[in-house]
Amino acid sequence: MTIDNQAPLGVFDSGVGGLTVVRALREMLPNESIIYLGDTARLPYGSKSPDTIRRFAVEDTQFLVDHHVKAVVVACNTATAHALPHLQKTFRMPVIGVVEPGVEATLADTATQRVGIMATAGTIRSCAYQHAIAMQRPDVITEGKATPLLVPFIEEGWIDHPALELVLREYLKPMLDHGIDTLVLGCTHYPLLMPVLKRMLGNKVRLVDSASTCAAHTKRMLEAENLLRTSKARPVLEIHLTDYSEQFEALAHRFLGYEFGKIKKAVL
Ligand code: DGL
Repeated sequence: MTIDNQAPLGVFDSGVGGLTVVRALREMLPNESIIYLGDTARLPYGSKSPDTIRRFAVEDTQFLVDHHVKAVVVACNTATAHALPHLQKTFRMPVIGVVEPGVEATLADTATQRVGIMATAGTIRSCAYQHAIAMQRPDVITEGKATPLLVPFIEEGWIDHPALELVLREYLKPMLDHGIDTLVLGCTHYPLLMPVLKRMLGNKVRLVDSASTCAAHTKRMLEAENLLRTSKARPVLEIHLTDYSEQFEALAHRFLGYEFGKIKKAVL
């Protein structure tokens, strides 16, 4: 199968949180067109069973394939954790997830000894990060923590709220007591927590977010496969959501950080 390198990249997530990955992709690959699908009608994925997440992930990928994308980026950590190998077997185009790039960035610092992972219940239950780290560095100790309260706080815009700090303190305490040197932010939404986490942790703990590492990984893949877009025409960004509301639109702006065209309604 020949892939058209001028075609857009496809990106999907359970909702609009994956726009943090789009933001990172646009920074690193400014000449690429992107078609984004947010499955807002069926979110959250983080609390769903592995079978359901896999089924949703196949439908999301099929939607992007039907829109003639050249590769698919699974921006959702939960979908990556449960469905990535299945998607890679099912579809004949490059499919990239967020876990492997996150692990790569975590282990890039060879001094890493103890890694804390914050993510949805589904991602933690899958042990995707823990296994991927153990495969490469069996000596590194990992500690996963399901942090389901964080997505609602972020979606409510309570990023600087003292209640968020209280919740974070509670979630982080066991990991900090065990002396983690690195914290993986294993969820689409968590890059927005960078400022508060930096404030709380100082430089005691290295923070790894999967959005920027995933974008860097995608760039390397496109270069290696000769799939970079060369056209001088302005690249496009299309955002499709399975359910539309003004709240999603406002959130999408917050995650992406700038204005975009009209959101399209997706039917899977
Ligand atoms: N996108 C999900 C993730 O990165 C978080 C939101 C959800 O649970 O659907 O795991």
